[in-house]
Amino acid sequence: MRLVEIQEGLGTFFVPPPKGDDSIPRRSDEVFFNFHQEINRDFSVLMLRAYARKNSKASLTVCEPLCGSGVRSIRYALETPTSSVYSNDINPKAIMVAEKNIKRLSKEIAQKIQLFNMECNSFLQSLNNTDEIFDFVDIDPYGTPIPFVHNSIRLVNLHGLLAFTATDLASLVGLYPKALYAKYGVSQFDSGIGNIHEIAARVLITGIQHVGLTLGQSLIPIVTFYHRHYIRCFLSRERGVDRVVDQTGFIFKCGNCQTRYKRILGEKDTTCPVCNGNKGMKVGPLYLGKIHQIDYLSLMLSDEHLQHVGTRKRLSKVLPLMIEEGSLDLPWSFDIPQLAKKTGVQVSSIKQIATILHEMGYICHKTHFSGTSLKTNASETEVCSVLRSLRTV
Ligand SMILES: C[S@@+](CC[C@H](N)C(=O)[O-])C[C@H]1O[C@@H](n2cnc3c(N)ncnc32)[C@H](O)[C@@H]1O
Repeated sequence: MRLVEIQEGLGTFFVPPPKGDDSIPRRSDEVFFNFHQEINRDFSVLMLRAYARKNSKASLTVCEPLCGSGVRSIRYALETPTSSVYSNDINPKAIMVAEKNIKRLSKEIAQKIQLFNMECNSFLQSLNNTDEIFDFVDIDPYGTPIPFVHNSIRLVNLHGLLAFTATDLASLVGLYPKALYAKYGVSQFDSGIGNIHEIAARVLITGIQHVGLTLGQSLIPIVTFYHRHYIRCFLSRERGVDRVVDQTGFIFKCGNCQTRYKRILGEKDTTCPVCNGNKGMKVGPLYLGKIHQIDYLSLMLSDEHLQHVGTRKRLSKVLPLMIEEGSLDLPWSFDIPQLAKKTGVQVSSIKQIATILHEMGYICHKTHFSGTSLKTNASETEVCSVLRSLRTV
């Protein structure tokens, strides 16, 4: 198999060469490696370092059951305080590449990593039958991570960390309602409710949490990252179901006055708190609590290791945006082109709209989910009136 050498983080690796101009890998590739996911791997390294610092852990145990060529696992061993990594992949050729990558490491780092060549759920179940338990389980599959959630929850420590990548954005943004319900349990979806990728992130979190609830566990979001064609969420495992159930419900948008509001599961009164209207759109059931814990993001941003990762420039812009959007605890944001179209005006400068909303006394932030969305405590009517005031004649 032809391999090329790349440098990523603190490591040098053999990986399959990029194909074509877009270098987007396919499932049919002999061994999977996605050059575009360097930012995902950098982000994950920084997140794990932040987790170790925040929880005063001098040594971490990690499990990556879909490891491909092993780059991510090796980076955890090299760049975080990880003492042991269990890495697995179903593809024997991927394991051969991972072995080659491990062989070039120092003995001290290489001995931290153990390779396995099994089907993911069989691998996780085999670990479940032993006493193995991990501080961090990282699930990075093709498509949806849902089939692997159950077994991974059972392998992570209490207060331990789980990460899931989902690339099935078409399902997450509600293009296929049956798949949306089958995978994530979300039965009501309307794309007009807000920024679609932020809602998609909550759909993913809700689906993962639902598996946790069946095991009597709450999976609490720590950080949620959207980039290009995937969503990546980090959650901690906590005992009991209340912390999730008490934050799960519906986002409503009043059909009369366009006010958005949330209602937790079981709340009987779903009429609009502003005009008492009871017709409109709703999305859910969805997790409506915080999807970022700002102290983790701040630790990632202030980590000197940020300067050693390849996507430092991009992350130095994204992390502050995530900190900003996380500071306003509302589960929606406004997609400005969508509102401009509805209002019949040209899209104005997002920065200018934000400035006016600030001057009017509202909190208003850009989001990392979209360069054209704003998260604000102003109502849709108020945002639309700002748009109209900026209309060029
Ligand atoms: C998206 S890639 C993982 C990439 C890797 N985590 C990285 O950061 O480079 C998904 C991997 O899962 C493996 N895979 C797919 N289905 C699997 C299964 N049921 N059990 C174990 N491995 C599987 C594939 O062979 C592929 O290497």
